[in-house]
Amino acid sequence: MSITRMTDLDLRGKRVLIRQDLNVPVADGVVTSDQRILASIPTLKAALDAGAAVMVTSHLGRPKEGAWSEADSLAPVARRLSELLGREVPLARDYLDGVDVAPGQIVLLENCRMNVGEGKDDEALSKRYAALCDVFVMDAFGTAHRAQASTHGVIRFAKQAAGGPLLMAELDALAKARGADIPLPVDVVVAPEFKADAPATIKAVDAVAADDMILDIGPETATRYALMIKDAGTVVWNGPVGVFEFKAFERGTETVAHAIAESNAFSIAGGGDTLAAVDKFGIVEDVSYISTGGGAFLEFLEGKTLPAVVALEARG
Ligand code: 3PG
Ligand code: MG
Repeated sequence: MSITRMTDLDLRGKRVLIRQDLNVPVADGVVTSDQRILASIPTLKAALDAGAAVMVTSHLGRPKEGAWSEADSLAPVARRLSELLGREVPLARDYLDGVDVAPGQIVLLENCRMNVGEGKDDEALSKRYAALCDVFVMDAFGTAHRAQASTHGVIRFAKQAAGGPLLMAELDALAKARGADIPLPVDVVVAPEFKADAPATIKAVDAVAADDMILDIGPETATRYALMIKDAGTVVWNGPVGVFEFKAFERGTETVAHAIAESNAFSIAGGGDTLAAVDKFGIVEDVSYISTGGGAFLEFLEGKTLPAVVALEARG
């Protein structure tokens, strides 16, 4: 893969725009799972240590373009990022005409999906992003499957474009994991409605009625999965197996999580909800590799090309 790496470039005194995927769950203005923010830290520190003036861009959720809204603001992310970096990270709201940032400083740019043209990979917007920097670094593996202005278009127009350490590590790790089997559930846990206190009933899959909601895998399926995971050489985990946020429907995901933690297999876990489950069941240290990708992770394993990666290769 011929991608210019951020680590190959001299960033001293350069204005560096880094696309991260800081799309994390937020509740009541607080980040509830910070895996993606944590994963971005080494890249940001490396750029700062190299003497760059660092601008970080990311999306959060899927806001309407052309309007600012507090609910979609990256403010909670800026606060968590500041805590993790141990320094104040200001959030810039109006930045498309230029950003005031000096070498050794870092600024987070407000949710890029609020910009008109972001989703459609608009050329004019891509050029405005490119004009902000000397070097554009694509490090948002979790969004590498989207051909949007901040993940794809800007790579074409930036003076220099490179793959960030996180993106490159993701590509290297996931290239080991291609090819898998799909063992379907034999039993499930159903409920009449999607509620934490809904009555949970275990049923064989062929006994599921039209009005049952399947909210977890059943215990027999969970045991089977755990046995397969125990003997596997490689485990790819993308997505919880039930509504693990509700106590009555968490057991399947918990069983799978612990089986992965106890297995000797090379294990990769990815996807926003998966990372929340990894956090909840306390197995962060026991997974070989935590991927920040969700859809990008699956598309890469399917063998699809990721638009952001193709664009980087074209520049490499
Ligand atoms: C994700 O969480 O899937 C990524 O951040 C990409 O977000 P999207 O699915 O809204 O494009
Ligand atoms: Mg998604």
